[in-house]
Amino acid sequence: MNIRTVSTQPFLDQKPGTSGLRKQVSQFQTHHYLENFTQSIFDSLENCHGQTLVLGGDGRFYNRQAIQIILKIAAANGFKRVLVGQGGILSTPAVSCIIRKYQAFGGIVLSASHNPGGPNGDFGIKYNISNGGPAPEKVTDAIYARTKTIDAYRILESNDLDLDRLGTTLLGDTTVDVVDSVVDYSQLMESLFDFDRIHELLTSGQFSACIDSLHAVTGPYARSIFEQRLGAPVGTVQNGIPLEDFGGGHPDPNLVYAHDLVDRLYGADAPDFGAASDGDGDRNMILGRRFFVTPSDSLAVLAANATLVPGYRNGLAGIARSMPTSQASDRVARKLGIDAYETPTGWKFFGNLLDVGKATLCGEESFGTGSNHIREKDGLWAVLFWLNIVAVRQQSVETIVQSHWQEYGRNYYSRHDYESVNGERANALMDQLQSNLSSLSGQTIAHYTVKYADNFSYTDPVDGSFSANQGVRIGFTDGSRIVFRLSGTGTQGATLRLYLESYEPNSNRHHLDPQVALTDLITIAEQLAQIRSFTGMDVPTVIT
Ligand code: G1P
Ligand code: ZN
Repeated sequence: MNIRTVSTQPFLDQKPGTSGLRKQVSQFQTHHYLENFTQSIFDSLENCHGQTLVLGGDGRFYNRQAIQIILKIAAANGFKRVLVGQGGILSTPAVSCIIRKYQAFGGIVLSASHNPGGPNGDFGIKYNISNGGPAPEKVTDAIYARTKTIDAYRILESNDLDLDRLGTTLLGDTTVDVVDSVVDYSQLMESLFDFDRIHELLTSGQFSACIDSLHAVTGPYARSIFEQRLGAPVGTVQNGIPLEDFGGGHPDPNLVYAHDLVDRLYGADAPDFGAASDGDGDRNMILGRRFFVTPSDSLAVLAANATLVPGYRNGLAGIARSMPTSQASDRVARKLGIDAYETPTGWKFFGNLLDVGKATLCGEESFGTGSNHIREKDGLWAVLFWLNIVAVRQQSVETIVQSHWQEYGRNYYSRHDYESVNGERANALMDQLQSNLSSLSGQTIAHYTVKYADNFSYTDPVDGSFSANQGVRIGFTDGSRIVFRLSGTGTQGATLRLYLESYEPNSNRHHLDPQVALTDLITIAEQLAQIRSFTGMDVPTVIT
């Protein structure tokens, strides 16, 4: 066995963001860049000797090359076994599932999630721990600290492995198993949902669905589960073959980027149900016929209907949402008499709550929903959850959501993103907001009175870890909110996110366009933050 120790120099920009290290492909292709980060992960783990690692990615450009490099570094660092997805493909939820099922030490997911791929696109790497979830901040901080001092990495000299053939190969002393990308995940889904009823629904001839994988990782999972196992007609899954550049698209399941799907669901002869997933399969968008379900509402509806689904028949322990996510799910928690948790943005903050059984369902406004079945958000899980509810209630998506509003009131909600803003100007905007916060409390602006204005911080109720600076929130006495934060996942300049929420109990006013319902708050946000002058932009880049 020939292990080489290669000397290297630190890169100073390897700080993991909201979800791992994301950079442009060209940066990852820089000599030693990926090697340094991978070795830094392994160096900061207590002892990877003799352990099992799970490895896979969303199939984007550079996935296969990166897997070959990481396999050789893992072998040189003493891992006993690596489970790698066939063709290098594993969705983020599948990695989480496989880590847990085979009690692996951890896993590496290669993805930049919903960011575009291809030679000029983005690439990313994130580490997940033994509970299957994203590494918490103390782990990512240790990795980052290591990247700043690293002076060598170890790598096995060996030929590339055939990633397409299922089976076992020895790489030095390390056993590499190329595993089926779909089967473990699909079995887990079958253990949670009523596949017989969903099968009946999808084969009844009375119900049609369209699932868009946006040329990204969920294609093989969706075709296997919906078309092969659940009997949906071939063609139900569109854009189902993962492409290295996602067909030139932006694999982000929202109304802007999943436009093919949106056109179908809003067109003539629209199907009854539509769904899309992102690059690595952890996000989802749910549509009914000419009807969009906001992710915040989706979480609330799933929670309110959870006992209709076999895996959640016994009820929920609690519901967790990220701070900017609308408060719709809090209302459901209150009614069910269970705890509601508010965490910072990023799935890693749900891990502890799920591990100790405080929360069962979790969600983020950014098209992420999931549960204690794994430790990542899970796009196809959400689609199956919705189909299970539709199959039991025999009602349309629209009817289900409207009756939910009728019962709980409607939380109008929208997020405005200003992308590629000059970093200094974005920071200046946040600083200026921050410095005005203390004077806002008690002020009345238009007909809104400020109840609180602060920068959100969070103390984890399980391990006491503290996270500051998680977004500026301005809450009003009627429950409305405006939240500002800077993205931690972008790779070009800064992205300002403005989150707007207002509550409407009156069902005669539940039919408004959210942008109309939120007009006053949009004006107040501009007044408080002077977004136009700081960003130089008159309108947001993306509204969801
Ligand atoms: C974004 C979303 C956040 C999500 C993350 C990873 O992070 O807002 O909810 O967890 O992507 O998918 P941000 O760019 O806002 O830091
Ligand atoms: Zn994702």
